[in-house]
Amino acid sequence: MKIAIIGSGGREHALVHHLSNSNKITKIYSIPGNAGTEEISVNIDLNLENFQDLYNFIKKEQIELVIVGPEKPLVEGLVDFLESKNIKVFGPRKKVAQLEGSKIFTKQICEKFNIPTAKFKICKSREDTFLFLSSSNFPLVVKADVLAAGKGVYICQNVDEARTAVNEIFDGKFGKTDQVLIEEFLEGDEMSFFIISDGISFKTFNTAQDHKRVGEGDTGKNTGGMGAYSPSSLINNDLENKILNKIIEPTLKAISEMNEKYVGFLYAGLMIKNNEPYLIEYNVRMGDPECQTILPLVDSDLLEIINACCNSKLETHKIKWKNKKSMCIALCSKGYPEKYNKNVEIKNLKKFKSTKDNFIFHAGTKSYGNKIVAVGGRVINFVNISDSYLSSRKEIINQIKKLNWEDGFYRSDIGHKVIDK
Ligand code: AMP
Ligand code: GLY
Repeated sequence: MKIAIIGSGGREHALVHHLSNSNKITKIYSIPGNAGTEEISVNIDLNLENFQDLYNFIKKEQIELVIVGPEKPLVEGLVDFLESKNIKVFGPRKKVAQLEGSKIFTKQICEKFNIPTAKFKICKSREDTFLFLSSSNFPLVVKADVLAAGKGVYICQNVDEARTAVNEIFDGKFGKTDQVLIEEFLEGDEMSFFIISDGISFKTFNTAQDHKRVGEGDTGKNTGGMGAYSPSSLINNDLENKILNKIIEPTLKAISEMNEKYVGFLYAGLMIKNNEPYLIEYNVRMGDPECQTILPLVDSDLLEIINACCNSKLETHKIKWKNKKSMCIALCSKGYPEKYNKNVEIKNLKKFKSTKDNFIFHAGTKSYGNKIVAVGGRVINFVNISDSYLSSRKEIINQIKKLNWEDGFYRSDIGHKVIDK
């Protein structure tokens, strides 16, 4: 079977790696891929915004299944487009991808179905927002209602910070908008919770803890994710049941009441307080770096799982999991998430290969002949699975030290809440 993976990050390299283990696969295309996917699949540099070109390529190469990694093409309707041309695609359609594309869409579902989430107010003009802020308690959260790749969320300690955020949003910093979302600030511990769904039934797809801040001890600027571990230490049966009953099932009910179905991975970003879950946001895809840390724990054929979803047969399909701990640490370009140099060579990287317990997933890398250079902020994900987070962390740091890339940096305290207690 020929398949294509859309995207170029660590999440996509992890998907390609695990799919390439399936004996049903004859060829994988990574569109556009990175230097890591190039070693195990064929990279094709196409413009993801040009759906017609993408379709022409898929048709010409007789690709039988397309798996969409990132949110942008999902929110822009790639699945609807390809399905209209009879191509099998794994990922949600445009209407339901609004769960990530529009925070207000999600909040309205939460309101209607009584899903626990932060109290909120949708404001339709600058004046309305300022008026509302003048009688609000702080801290609170101001959010732009657009796909802003984790940006567009402001935690505000006082009215001046909130007014600055509101002005930036209405001035179009994240694109044209005529509304903002103001939210109550939730306290607690964050957790990433995943399901996989075929539109009729769903299965849980593990949990993870992401470390979003750039600095040790979870300090400094927000990033795409400096590392993660799975499973989350917060999860237990009681909490999982609450998440399913109070959040996931009502959301899927809301979708079916719209005469839609959800096919793909669904990622609930949750705040957990006193073993009670609150929905912060939905993402309509796997997380990055959560995907890199979760997939090595899957003990079943990933292609068969995804195929079962595309054929509405997930219910009878069993997903097996390894009883191990998994950790991922991202090696980043010095300066990230602010300015960093591009096209910096990473020597010796080709010598690092994934093994049974150690995985190396590229993110912002590109190859020029024999040379691999860094082209992004997050460059390489090192993953290890073992019986303890501490031993995984030690092994990963060992690997990073061996690579000895002097233009890179990483957080050495991933998992500190479960390791360094
Ligand atoms: P989002 O893009 O909605 O996931 O927001 C990015 C990050 O902002 C989340 O991962 C949280 O750390 C934080 N955040 C968002 N909304 C809230 C909230 N209502 N209360 C506390 N923290 C929040
Ligand atoms: N790890 C955060 C995200 O994928 O959005």
